[in-house]
Amino acid sequence: MNDPLEARQHAPATQRNQGPILQVLLQVLPPRGTILEVSSGTGEHAIFLAPRLRPRKWIPSDPDPDARASIAAWRKHCPTDNLYPPIALDARDPVWAVEQDELPEALQDIDFKHDPIVAIVNINMIHIAPWSACLGLMSRARQILPPGGILYLYGPFKQGGKHTAPSNAAFDERLQAQNPEWGVRDLDEVVAVAQAQSLSLVKTYVMPANNLSVIFQA
Ligand SMILES: C[S@@+](CC[C@H](N)C(=O)[O-])C[C@H]1O[C@@H](n2cnc3c(N)ncnc32)[C@H](O)[C@@H]1O
Repeated sequence: MNDPLEARQHAPATQRNQGPILQVLLQVLPPRGTILEVSSGTGEHAIFLAPRLRPRKWIPSDPDPDARASIAAWRKHCPTDNLYPPIALDARDPVWAVEQDELPEALQDIDFKHDPIVAIVNINMIHIAPWSACLGLMSRARQILPPGGILYLYGPFKQGGKHTAPSNAAFDERLQAQNPEWGVRDLDEVVAVAQAQSLSLVKTYVMPANNLSVIFQA
C-alpha cells in the first residue's frame, strides 16, 4: 500500500524564505481571524506559518491535485490544530470556494462569523500563472476581505518597468520560455490592478534573493 506521506513535495526555497515571510506577516496580519492561502504549492509554508500565527486559522489551497495531496501529507506529518485541509481553488474562478453557500467539506468546522477571512496570502504565484490569475486574485480579494483586511503578495517584481537584479531578468526569460503567459510582473501594473479593486498599497518589504513582500489593504 502506498504511504500517503510519500505525496509530500519539497521546494527548497521555502526553507530559505519562510522565516523572513513570517516576520513580515507578524507585522501586518490582523491579530485574529482566518487566513486564506492561495497557491500553497507543497504546503511547506502552511505547516511552518500556521502554528506560528495562532490564534489565527489557516486555509491552504491550490488548483493542482498533486499539490493538494502534498499539503494534506505535510499536514498529516505535522499536525496543527489551526491548519485546515487544503481546498481546490484557482484564482481565476469567478467565485471562490470560500464564498459559496455550500462550503467544501474541509471547511465545515469553521465558524466564519467568529473567524472571518481577514487576510489572503499569495506566495510566488502571479509570475508563474497567466495575468488573469492576478486579475482574479484582486477581484476576489475585494469581495472577500473586510475593510482593513490584508492581501499579502510575495515574489520577484520589476520596478519602474525594469528588473531589480540580473538573476530576476534571467528567471523572467526562463519563465516566458516555459510559458509565454508567465513572467515577472511589474509592481506598478500589479498596484494599478489592486487599486482598481479598491485595494490600497500599504507597504513593500525588500526580501532575500531579490523578492518583495507587497502589502495591500482593503
Ligand atoms: C511556484 S509554485 C509556489 C508554491 C508556494 N506558494 C511556494 O512558494 O512554494 C506556484 C503555485 O501556483 C499554483 N497556481 C498556478 N496557477 C494558479 C492559479 N490560477 N490559481 C491558484 N494557484 C495557481 C500552482 O499550482 C503552484 O502550486
